[in-house]
Amino acid sequence: AGLPRRSLWTLADVRRTLPRRKASSHKGTHGRLLVAGGSLRMPGAVVLASRAALRSGAGLVTTAVPDCIHAIAAGHYPEAMYLPSPSEAGHFRGELPLGDAAFGAIAAGPGLGRTPGSRAVVEQVLRQDVPVLLDADALFHAAELLPLLRKRRKPTVLTPHPGEMARLTGSTAAAVEDDRFGVSARFAAETGAYVVLKGPHTIVAAPDGMQRVNTTGSAALAKGGSGDVLTGIAAAFLLQHEDVLQAVSNAVYIHGLAASLLTEEHHSLADVLASDVIESIPSAFRHIY
Ligand code: APR
Ligand code: MG
Repeated sequence: AGLPRRSLWTLADVRRTLPRRKASSHKGTHGRLLVAGGSLRMPGAVVLASRAALRSGAGLVTTAVPDCIHAIAAGHYPEAMYLPSPSEAGHFRGELPLGDAAFGAIAAGPGLGRTPGSRAVVEQVLRQDVPVLLDADALFHAAELLPLLRKRRKPTVLTPHPGEMARLTGSTAAAVEDDRFGVSARFAAETGAYVVLKGPHTIVAAPDGMQRVNTTGSAALAKGGSGDVLTGIAAAFLLQHEDVLQAVSNAVYIHGLAASLLTEEHHSLADVLASDVIESIPSAFRHIY
């Protein structure tokens, strides 16, 4: 009540809403996250997302990858757990072997690919009764799974760039760019999902009509892999916030801030890598707390 329907999301908002880690916490307190993605051509994206999630405070991260890239993905960092899943032609063959594994949230999409097997993974993920974030190729598949998406009871977060937003709405990237507020608001209201329409001044649109506009970030993020890092931060924050709009708005803010702090110090706008942004997340947190 009394909150503006549309507003900037500022440093003061982040300071007010970013959760503090309690001294008594253990890894379970901060949530179990599943990140699903990867393919032979894009083995790195899902690793970037998983690593960003760990840097952002997720307690336990399991990375589900097609088994053909398991060794390559696992070689990148030892802190994650892995769920190698059957592969076919360099992609997931079909559903993940989840068994009775329980996760607090699931993120899917980075490096996933556009095969029938990877589509089956997105369908499976949408059926899970936990908060779900879809990005990249999961959004490609989601465009054909909208009835399933509308039926979800737990929060769904979609993180499209304008091209992905266009596919979801049956429109063009140019038309999306012409009406960023309108397109994101209508799609959120119509599907019940939180929509993160990326780009300079990323908009986060909630199903109830609230919209928050990001105030951080720069062209340093205009490089492959940046979106994967945002996916990891946002998924980790979903596990650690009560309020989804706050979780996602804070994730977008920290993502942009981490990049900006790099270019204030020793990077130019041109030479920032997505992995550098991950390693800058600690500086962003220090800036907040
Ligand atoms: N200013 C501010 N932020 C920016 C800018 C800019 N000029 N350019 C990019 N960003 C931010 C966006 O807001 C977003 O958070 O960087 C991120 C880019 O995300 P994506 O567009 O998803 O890019 P990418 O990481 O390359 O995606 C990897 O997934 O979406 C697919 O087609 C994409 O295959 C590619 C893969
Ligand atoms: Mg992307």
